[in-house]
Amino acid sequence: MAAHSPLIVGIGGTTGGSSSTETALRIALAAAEALGARTLLFGGEAIAALPHYTAKSSTRTAGEAALVTAVRDASGLILASPGYHGNVSGVVKNALDLLEETARDARPYLTDLPVGLIATAYGWQATGSTIAALRAIVHAFRGWPTPFAAAVNCRLSRFDANGAPSDPEVAEQLALVGRQVADFALRIGAPLDIAS
Ligand SMILES: Cc1cc2nc3c(=O)[nH]c(=O)nc-3n(C[C@H](O)[C@H](O)[C@H](O)COP(=O)(O)O)c2cc1C
Repeated sequence: MAAHSPLIVGIGGTTGGSSSTETALRIALAAAEALGARTLLFGGEAIAALPHYTAKSSTRTAGEAALVTAVRDASGLILASPGYHGNVSGVVKNALDLLEETARDARPYLTDLPVGLIATAYGWQATGSTIAALRAIVHAFRGWPTPFAAAVNCRLSRFDANGAPSDPEVAEQLALVGRQVADFALRIGAPLDIAS
């Protein structure tokens, strides 16, 4: 275990049964853990339970508060979205919009944080456009998208009941996302004191 064990927060997935997006995210988080990171997952069910984000509201649910607190404590993030109509799903985007709550922190949004990206879809076109959209969101949040983003084409590659992908190369690509985020976080060291 590294002297500083960075917290890597995973956000992503879908609801209504097993989610290849969430499974892919779990593989990336496991690889980050293997490098000494701590991880916290906000999977499909957790983010789908968040209310529609309203910037003007002064009250937040426990689920909203938990996600914002986790991101404030994080040294890195991994985002995973299905490609829905060529873009980030509404559920994932709503969870990310909630990070507007950190706008007035000493470390606003995802400033200086490494952020790994994963997209799933039934074809390559939507994986590419969804990764590009996620990257633009991370830039807007002042974060640092890590160099390799993983695209999972669910038409070609599936996950078994234990979460193992049919294509070992997919597992390696997802692990690379997790390793790049953990490695960046370990190099940066302990997060800044972001108390507002
Ligand atoms: C509303 C909706 C829109 C979708 N749009 C696309 C799309 O534009 N291109 C594509 O390749 N797959 C599309 N898909 C397939 C999803 O990307 C695929 O179901 C998802 O990656 C699987 O993730 P999951 O197992 O985590 O649910 C769509 C699926 C849904 C439900």
